[in-house]
Amino acid sequence: QSEPVRVVVTGAAGQIAYSLLYMVAKGDVFGPNQPVILHLLDIPPMMGVVQGVVMELSDCALPLLRGVVPTADPDVAFKDVDAAFLVGAMPRKEGMERKDLLAANVGIFKVQGQAIERNAKRTIKVLVVGNPANTNALVCSKYAPSIPKENFTAMTRLDQNRATAHIAERLNVSCADVSNVIIWGNHSSTQFPDVRHANATVNGAKVSVSEAIKDDEYLKTQFVEKIQKRGAAVIAARKLSSAMSAAKAASDHMKDWWQGSANWVSMGVISDGSYGVPADVVFSFPVICSDKKWTIVQGLEIDEYARGKLDITAKELIEEREEALAVCQDSNL
Ligand code: NAI
Repeated sequence: QSEPVRVVVTGAAGQIAYSLLYMVAKGDVFGPNQPVILHLLDIPPMMGVVQGVVMELSDCALPLLRGVVPTADPDVAFKDVDAAFLVGAMPRKEGMERKDLLAANVGIFKVQGQAIERNAKRTIKVLVVGNPANTNALVCSKYAPSIPKENFTAMTRLDQNRATAHIAERLNVSCADVSNVIIWGNHSSTQFPDVRHANATVNGAKVSVSEAIKDDEYLKTQFVEKIQKRGAAVIAARKLSSAMSAAKAASDHMKDWWQGSANWVSMGVISDGSYGVPADVVFSFPVICSDKKWTIVQGLEIDEYARGKLDITAKELIEEREEALAVCQDSNL
């Protein structure tokens, strides 16, 4: 068996981590033969809860789990790590303005970027889950300048999984029969879930999703809104935000990045200007992963309708970036 990989999960006392840690420790992400050492980072008041999670991980008796390092110190958490799930973030509290939320998170992702710069392997793969995920990933990468920007990604896989599952249910097929659903842009309500290039296997035949559903108007309007608002619907029902599904999506994202993806998958990645998206924002594109690298799928047609959707979400990301950079300057970060 190979050497263990070191994997840090931040927000380790939180609800997403509670599902995610189990998935990572039982081999869902790095492979069924790859031992792992888990680093669990949370803030000092949560260390008691983290200890409980450590006990439960032990009680799972997982053969691949070779060590657990609980800590509130980012320098310990990021020491020699191969992969990072940045889940912990400041949640929006009542009465909190968007700006305050952004400022709090800029602070967190700055500190973690700096700790990555000081401690992590140069090959570290970072997945940011904590919101605003795309802009947090950008900030984190700015504070870890010696690590390639390509190593910082943001999670839109939950949106992709939601869209895929929705189409599969509508066609009465398995999720495995639906491929190449795309999420463009920000992990927010401006995201553009796009099935114009997606395929489905229905009754043994591979067809385009548009052909199978035969209702373009629905796919352009109700479907898009349903996926954009799915997170809010889960909160309304559960009184808590998506956690099991968010953990599954984080596991899927890192697995595809680490082990390669069979089809296109969507990831927030540093924009190189593809599809007329401004550079230097973390934007969700369709990518293919192999050799532990992602590559943006090129050559897809963007019609006027799609152009409008891409521009809206790009504009929001630029605004977020400018606000985040202003916070960095104001507080002399
Ligand atoms: P939670 O509130 O249950 O847990 C968050 C944990 O992060 C808490 O234990 C908290 O103490 C910790 N934390 C706060 N600041 C920290 C810091 N500086 N360092 C380390 N840990 C810190 O939240 P939950 O439900 O686990 O969600 C986590 C984040 O994921 C939220 O920002 C949420 O909005 C986001 N999210 C993103 C999704 C996506 O698709 N990208 C989907 C669902 C949630």
